[in-house]
Amino acid sequence: MTPLTQAPPLPSPFPPSVLAGSHAGLAEVLATLAEAIDTASTARRPAGPLPAGTPAEVLAAAAAALGPAELPAEGLGTKAALQLLVTVLVEHGIDLSHPRAAAHLQPPPLAVAVAADTLASAGNASLDTYDSGPSAIAVERWLIGVLIHLAGLGERADGVLTPGGSLSNLMGLLLARDAAALRRGIDVREHGVGALPGPVVFCSELAHFSTHRACAALGLGEAAVVPVPTDERRRMRPEALAAALAGLGPDRTPIAVVATAGTTDFGSVDPLPQLAEITAGHGMWLHVDAAYGFGALFSPRLAGHLAGLELADSITLDLHKIGWQPAATSVLLVSDTTAFTALDREVAYLNPTDDSEAGYDGLLGRSLQTTRRPDAVKAAATLLAYGRTGVGRMVDTCHDLARYAEGRILAEPELELVAPAELTTVVFRYRGSGTTDADALNGALRRSLLESGDALIGRTEAATAGPGSPRRVCLKFTLLNPTATTDDIDGLVDTVLHAGRTCERLIEEDAA
Ligand SMILES: Cc1ncc(COP(=O)(O)O)c(C=O)c1O
Repeated sequence: MTPLTQAPPLPSPFPPSVLAGSHAGLAEVLATLAEAIDTASTARRPAGPLPAGTPAEVLAAAAAALGPAELPAEGLGTKAALQLLVTVLVEHGIDLSHPRAAAHLQPPPLAVAVAADTLASAGNASLDTYDSGPSAIAVERWLIGVLIHLAGLGERADGVLTPGGSLSNLMGLLLARDAAALRRGIDVREHGVGALPGPVVFCSELAHFSTHRACAALGLGEAAVVPVPTDERRRMRPEALAAALAGLGPDRTPIAVVATAGTTDFGSVDPLPQLAEITAGHGMWLHVDAAYGFGALFSPRLAGHLAGLELADSITLDLHKIGWQPAATSVLLVSDTTAFTALDREVAYLNPTDDSEAGYDGLLGRSLQTTRRPDAVKAAATLLAYGRTGVGRMVDTCHDLARYAEGRILAEPELELVAPAELTTVVFRYRGSGTTDADALNGALRRSLLESGDALIGRTEAATAGPGSPRRVCLKFTLLNPTATTDDIDGLVDTVLHAGRTCERLIEEDAA
């Protein structure tokens, strides 16, 4: 056999345009994509935010459009493949930019962010090492610097992007756990959590469930979580926290207090200055889950809600909630960069000491991930494009829409306001005539909207008659579309009222 080195040059069977790094290649596929989105959006997009039909019907229609789950022997070509997926996603998927899409903390992403995300994907840089993408590192450091200033943290602060608020909370608690263990002379990283006696993490009874999951994943156990009661405005009661701490025996290790700045359903913010005073008094870590609420800082009108945030040891913030980024754009900030020491790793193929000492270092030591997407690029593009004023105006617009929805709900005798608009959510119930079980009626109402596809609203449970009262099924608007208007809110409320009346009639007919 002729050695390869002596063989005639081997031409590649692929032209450079198959790669995103080639201008021609990217321009061509992006033009195809824009054209296909355009056609799909005018032609067969569902009238509401969701396609009409039961889940089985909608999923079957999307599967049928995709065709059999078989790898084609010969490809369809980029144009046909993209057109097929545009059809599946646009005709059978969710439209978050629809003014009646108001279910989750899942905003319609900004066009500039999506374009910048494509740019980031085209480069495919990674954050772990210098030689995986120096400019991506610079962009992430820029974004972290901007967010540190916004949060009011000091000179020693630092941060990192993560794949979601749940993971930012996990990392915050990981750093808190390791710091608490070190104070007791235990190296958890080396020896595991077994030697750590009775770990305890305090959070409000309304904290996001990711705190519980993080405790399970970190080996602390969900039993480590001590829920602290909330007041009538759904904020953690500091005196209840202080009492719970005072009652801890010497066999327990207090790890952290997780305060919430923007509860998922109500947008309520725990009293951060008082909680910070308590944690400081006990030498405890204060983690603030501001996944939802951090965005309020862009608005001069709402920023005061987050007073005391600068006292946190770590902060979770999600720009894929208030921030209008495609998921995921989550950030963990820490008040002191040395907290990241717990994540340090020296790996021969990535960051050997002599390379690091010579400055060829990346961000491996700030993350649990190795390969890490440059998610900061889309957020940086957004903040540069709109500035604090532009993003703040989007926040204010959504807050105004929530306030308007609150007023409209209060004015409707068939609706009951459960929680007013703190940020951009409003929780309420359809009252019904009293003859139908209101919990079942509200559940059925929401499902009927999902099936008709007319509106996408949220569902939750809340103590409707004050702290400690029974939890009832509620409905929720999460308003994150800054292009929506008060007319759209009227349309949303009218759609809910119509669905409520229809559901109640059907339930009564069924029972008769
Ligand atoms: C307060 C809060 N924390 C954490 C999370 C989890 O964020 P993610 O869905 O990005 O994991 C959420 C999600 O809604 C949230 O509302």
